[in-house]
Amino acid sequence: MYMRSERFKNRTVLITGAASGIGAEAARQFAAEEAYVFGCDVNIERLATMEKELGKAFIPIHGDLRKEESVEALSMAIQQQFESLDILVNNAGIGYFSGLDFSPEDFTRHFDVNLRGPMLCVKHCRDLLEESSNPVIINISSIAANIEFSNHFLYSCAKKGIEKFTKHLVKDLPWIRANSVLPGFIDTPMLDGFGSGDEKRKLIGAINSSVPCGRIGKPIDIANAILFLASDEAAYINGASLVVDGGFTHANTWLGL
Ligand code: NAI
Repeated sequence: MYMRSERFKNRTVLITGAASGIGAEAARQFAAEEAYVFGCDVNIERLATMEKELGKAFIPIHGDLRKEESVEALSMAIQQQFESLDILVNNAGIGYFSGLDFSPEDFTRHFDVNLRGPMLCVKHCRDLLEESSNPVIINISSIAANIEFSNHFLYSCAKKGIEKFTKHLVKDLPWIRANSVLPGFIDTPMLDGFGSGDEKRKLIGAINSSVPCGRIGKPIDIANAILFLASDEAAYINGASLVVDGGFTHANTWLGL
């Protein structure tokens, strides 16, 4: 038997996009359970805020997942301090609406951050993960992988891609456990893309009344799912896609989007 608070004692965790929203909350929860958390992000100011908040448990790494050399440097930074990586959480993501008049930049941004970045993280962290006695990968997809929101196919296709990539990992790297989480609407800075002020409040109100659980999701709802999938309690869960959306997918209201 182990105490819940010690599930991740001395384990090494890499979370991408750890400076904000879901990634920041997952970092807090892993740190609370005594893991060493490497937090990678492009946002250097918010990384510094996380370091201030979590102290020694949080090791910030400034990096841009769109650049392979940046991901390589990330794995080298971990290697300099630890022999292995136990848990990789591919969480960083971006998304905005874009129709069929999308630009080459719209395409590359969506696919480089949401799909190629996680693939590069696995490519460059693979050796470190192999040194772990119990390696786990958790990829953050989205319910957008299963729902057709208007003018959102770039994000949705990339998120379907990361979900599919997860299943390939089970086949190609059978010594790890790999699962994906598909969050519904979660109240994080990512939602600012839908508008601000009154517009955002109206959206959150509409989400609250469209979700069978009665509210928009919080970062902790997804962090709880990530920690569960990373834990030994999920030892036999491999290749799964865990939808965490308060039932939104099955309400069929979809906010008219
Ligand atoms: P967020 O915007 O609060 O956090 C995303 C973080 O990723 C930011 O700190 C950002 O700086 C970082 N990031 C972006 N591009 C990067 C790059 N090239 N290299 C390194 N870091 C980069 O967003 P949130 O909501 O916490 O999103 C986390 C994950 O959850 C994303 O993959 C997102 O697609 C997914 N998700 C979020 C939903 C929501 O409603 N908030 C719904 C479904 C999925």
